[in-house]
Amino acid sequence: MKKVPVLMLFMSFVLVSCIPRYLIPNETDLATAKGHWAGTTTMELKQGYNIYIDQCTDCHRLKKLKKYTEEEWLKVMPKMGRKAHLDSTQYASVLHYILSKREDILAKKKK
Ligand code: HEC
Repeated sequence: MKKVPVLMLFMSFVLVSCIPRYLIPNETDLATAKGHWAGTTTMELKQGYNIYIDQCTDCHRLKKLKKYTEEEWLKVMPKMGRKAHLDSTQYASVLHYILSKREDILAKKKK
């Protein structure tokens, strides 16, 4: 049965490598986030990113950030936060990550 862990490792590698690199939080996202929530830190956005790619993919594939408006995100997130069993800190971090990364993706598209 030694093959199983190797296979699992390989599968998780395949899954992780499907996540586009532009989703990793960067300086622009941090600046955007700070504009909305003054105390935002790099750590918080990283935590939000990790939750987004890990826990938010337990039941469905990654939901595209730009597919929904800010209002739609704000509407669906309380429900998804409960589904993912997030505490209030985790919830805030993933929400802030989603909204700031979304803005930056849309801003880049316009250029
Ligand atoms: C326990 C399972 C589960 C988890 C965990 C979960 N979701 Fe969902 N999600 C669903 C289901 C089921 C639907 C579709 C039906 C619905 O809206 O309830 C959905 C729908 C969505 C939609 C589409 C809503 C729409 O109106 O089209 C978005 C966006 C979304 N989820 C984001 C997230 C995010 C972000 C997270 C992480 C915080 C998350 N989900 C975690 C089960 C889950």
